[in-house]
Amino acid sequence: MLAFKKKENIVRVCVCVCVYIEGALRFASYYGDHMVLQKSPESAVLWGYGPEGAQVTVTLSGPSQQKKSLVNVAKGIWRVTLDPVEAGGPYNLTAVVQSSTAALTDVLFGDIWLCGGQSNMWLQTSKIFNASEELDLAAKYPHVRTFMAALNLSEIEQTDLLQVEHTWAVPPENVADFSAVCWLFGRYLYKTLQYPIGLVESCWGGTPVEVWSSSRALKRCELLQTYNNPKENSILWNSMIHPLLNMTIKGAIWYQGEANADYHQDQYNCSFPAMIDDWRMAFHQGSGGQTAHDFPFGFVQLSTYEKGSKSDAFPNIRWHQTADKGFVPNPRMQKTFMAVALDLPDATSPFGTIHPRDKQDVAYRLTLGARAVAYNEKDVSFQGPFPKLILSAHDFINITYDQNVSVTPSKDIFEICCSEIQTPCGPKSSWVPAPIMHWGPATVQLSTSLCQSTDKVAALRYAWGDWPCDFKACSVYSASRILPAPPFITNHSPAKGNQEL
Ligand SMILES: *[C@@H]1O[C@H](CO)[C@@H](O)[C@H](O)[C@H]1NC(C)=O
Ligand SMILES: *[C@@H]1O[C@H](CO)[C@@H](O)[C@H](O)[C@H]1NC(C)=O
Ligand SMILES: *[C@@H]1O[C@H](CO)[C@@H](O)[C@H](O)[C@H]1NC(C)=O
Ligand SMILES: *[C@@H]1O[C@H](CO)[C@@H](O)[C@H](O)[C@H]1NC(C)=O
Ligand SMILES: *[C@@H]1O[C@H](CO)[C@@H](O)[C@H](O)[C@H]1NC(C)=O
Ligand SMILES: *[C@@H]1O[C@H](CO)[C@@H](O)[C@H](O)[C@H]1NC(C)=O
Ligand SMILES: *[C@@H]1O[C@H](CO)[C@@H](O)[C@H](O)[C@H]1NC(C)=O
Repeated sequence: MLAFKKKENIVRVCVCVCVYIEGALRFASYYGDHMVLQKSPESAVLWGYGPEGAQVTVTLSGPSQQKKSLVNVAKGIWRVTLDPVEAGGPYNLTAVVQSSTAALTDVLFGDIWLCGGQSNMWLQTSKIFNASEELDLAAKYPHVRTFMAALNLSEIEQTDLLQVEHTWAVPPENVADFSAVCWLFGRYLYKTLQYPIGLVESCWGGTPVEVWSSSRALKRCELLQTYNNPKENSILWNSMIHPLLNMTIKGAIWYQGEANADYHQDQYNCSFPAMIDDWRMAFHQGSGGQTAHDFPFGFVQLSTYEKGSKSDAFPNIRWHQTADKGFVPNPRMQKTFMAVALDLPDATSPFGTIHPRDKQDVAYRLTLGARAVAYNEKDVSFQGPFPKLILSAHDFINITYDQNVSVTPSKDIFEICCSEIQTPCGPKSSWVPAPIMHWGPATVQLSTSLCQSTDKVAALRYAWGDWPCDFKACSVYSASRILPAPPFITNHSPAKGNQEL
């Protein structure tokens, strides 16, 4: 008798859930008042829940009008693709079925950027340098709107977010709790674009790239078989990215990699580019072709962790973030852009040195990349100097950069690997400093006198340390000093131009 009653209860609960899902007309979790929808030339995709088989009519009213009807709500879900809408607003959106209405007000059209990664993306605007000035400024940017997904994980791919942390808000509301890098990126972009920006934050501290990757992406890097705890594969992809695939987006920015410094570090040159490829494919499909199949993807190259550390974990991840090329975009990572951040250490950060508080420079450098790569603005410099030609002579090395440089001499930020035979140099090889002797508008000359006279220079590297310099005090910058030279090593893969070593 007791057992039977239990069963009865279970059946009742199930019926309740089903009736609720089928009966309610509503938008999916991440559509809300004050939101930004992707502007033309792309079309915004809207979806939600409704009674099975019913006809839902969606109406857009504001500076322009649209009406869309659709039949066949299937499996409790309706979906509509609007005609392209130019940047601007405000609009109201209503979805109507029989006598039931769901409405969104104060909707703007603009560009949607997704912000992902781990704790450096998570770090809130209230915690960065000059936070009070930033929060005061936020009220001046009511057209940069923010949305934050809650921290949820799932072992299966979810259709919708399990929970929303902050619904769409008009600044200054929620900016203090919002990702500083994401907010500042949106605010700086708005300054050049002058139309609405929608920022979607979906990130989680301490997470490796594997949890944000689908099994398709992991398989490409043979990470499915080797994972210690396979249950953790894809758990945030499932719950915090997959539900967003059906929304049209302009692009994504990403700040992650610290958690892979001691976890599948060697595979990061595969796993990170594979995740980008997979997200692009999945967002394109999920939006019915509206989100570009090669949408722009920007990321922050790792900053710093431990001053004086001899570990090459951060240098290796920085290198792997570029698919071992040293710069992006490159043939393996097209339409990507990178903010170099290794010259922005923060020794006294109350949040730990792994969380530097200067997020303004990080976001500004990202914005330069977005302007060049995502918005095709000509004449925007966004890459720091990279070697074009490396000449090795008897007792010196001459580096010619791909642009004019601003140089501060250093005795040890360049290092050479000396070897009797020209074998590949690795972390265990003997690296010695190569002091900067002279420099010209686009060249740097290094001394190789610290090699034994019987040895040859087998490899060269720059800024190859966890914490290679003090704040904004690395040796090589763009002529304007805005963009630091990214780190490089010559024996992992060929440099940009010819090299003769
Ligand atoms: C949107 O709806 C609000 C009330 O919900 C109304 O005051 C406003 O006039 C509407 N705007 C448009 C463009 O329809
Ligand atoms: C989602 O995460 C929130 C905290 O961010 C938690 O309170 C909630 O229980 C989670 N929901 C599910 C369904 O896991
Ligand atoms: C990735 O890096 C590892 C370790 O440095 C190296 O062995 C491997 O060849 C690289 N793979 C690719 C695809 O570049
Ligand atoms: C979202 O897109 C995926 C991938 O195309 C699709 O399987 C799913 O049905 C879509 N969900 C909704 C709610 O449209
Ligand atoms: C903080 O504000 C001061 C004074 O305006 C400025 O010099 C400094 O560069 C700012 N710091 C950051 C990280 O933006
Ligand atoms: C190397 O650079 C120095 C100064 O930057 C220049 O005087 C010299 O001619 C260069 N040598 C070669 C072989 O390019
Ligand atoms: C690089 O510097 C040289 C010498 O100062 C100058 O003549 C040249 O115009 C500069 N190139 C660029 C692209 O600014």
